Amino acid sequence: MTVWSFPTRIVFGAGTASQTGSEAKRVGATRALIVTDKGVVKTGLVEPVLASLKDAGLEATVFDDVLGNPIEKNVHDGVAAFREAKADIVVALGGGSPLDVGKLVRLGIHHTRPLVDYDDSTGGDQYITSNVPPMIAIPTTAGTGSEVGRSGVVTLDVNHRKTVIFSPHLLANAAILDPELTRGLPAFLTAATGFDALTHCLEAYVSKGDHPMADGIALEGIRIIASCLERAVAHGDDIEARGGMMKAAMMGAVAFQKGLGAAHSLAHPLSSECGLHHGLANALVLPAVVDFNAKATEERLARVSTILGGEPSAAGCAAALRALRLRVGLPESLGRVSVTRDKLDSLADLAIQDACHQSNPRACSRDDLWALYQASF
Ligand SMILES: NC(=O)c1ccc[n+]([C@@H]2O[C@H](COP(=O)([O-])OP(=O)(O)OC[C@H]3O[C@@H](n4cnc5c(N)ncnc54)[C@H](O)[C@@H]3O)[C@@H](O)[C@H]2O)c1
Ligand SMILES: [Zn+2]
Repeated sequence: MTVWSFPTRIVFGAGTASQTGSEAKRVGATRALIVTDKGVVKTGLVEPVLASLKDAGLEATVFDDVLGNPIEKNVHDGVAAFREAKADIVVALGGGSPLDVGKLVRLGIHHTRPLVDYDDSTGGDQYITSNVPPMIAIPTTAGTGSEVGRSGVVTLDVNHRKTVIFSPHLLANAAILDPELTRGLPAFLTAATGFDALTHCLEAYVSKGDHPMADGIALEGIRIIASCLERAVAHGDDIEARGGMMKAAMMGAVAFQKGLGAAHSLAHPLSSECGLHHGLANALVLPAVVDFNAKATEERLARVSTILGGEPSAAGCAAALRALRLRVGLPESLGRVSVTRDKLDSLADLAIQDACHQSNPRACSRDDLWALYQASF
């Protein structure tokens, strides 16, 4: 048996942040807590969202204590802010970090167990019920696709691991994809978040399991990224390219309902231990993972390579990824981002505990993961 699920009402288009108020009203909300971060506040992107909520007659409070690579405290503080504001809806505005924290703030309102109990890798989804306030997700990066995903990712106090908390009940009631909100995203973040979207599409397409819908969406996502990522990096004002990247990011997250792979298991400890941006971490390890997976899924990787303009082989795919990474200005090796080889043992110990590699097309041991880090230097 395979269970196939599809998400979320998605409102797409330049200027659609102005629909936030009407979308909140659709679900009967009257008081919003905007969950965001200080970087987003600085860009001024909160203003159109606040204005739209106010125009629709809603009260709104801003909570901006969310870190990149969020920690448990961000969730607890957000829950306290929601209660204090007497809010009845979360409007999560930002990159994956505020969107994930937004989902977990919803969870925390009526679910009172310690967050570790909800860890997806230990079956925590069984404790998550539909008793969560509604949420609208408004991405300001084009990478994680968290706006249409069912998971919140947070580094927990008890284990210092990036932990996935997953449930269909955490799906946003609506996602608003307004490419205008990414117009000012700097080139580095555009490239790094774009590589996250690419990694989602690629890992989903080659992951274990049978999911033709996810496969089709992943391939189309890769095609859009091939045509839009470099344009968005080079010309931030290219609103068509920005819109393409927002679509591809959303499609990557739909596709990875099928599963992810070893690159994400390697990337998560690079963020929690070394503070690397998630998309950058993926970009650094993905080519080595593609080389490793060649034995298991040569044909699919050849197809991806062709879309990326590479030779029709797995080796061609890894080469095309390295070339694209270079063209969008991302660093080429872990050594360039101050990860040191003496960390490899502890990184590999954490990577093997991460659940994502379980759907990798080729099984990986702890030593394989260690070798993949080594190959990414
Ligand atoms: N839930 C999921 O399915 C999922 C999937 C992938 C990644 N993630 C998680 O998402 C997080 C990464 O999210 P991200 O890559 O979007 O980065 P992010 O949310 O951490 O944001 C990175 C930086 O970009 C800034 N920023 C955001 N939008 C901006 C804009 N328009 N202009 C200028 N600056 C802007 C932020 O202030 C922040 O400083 C990680 O914690 C990762 O683990 C979750
Ligand atoms: Zn990711």
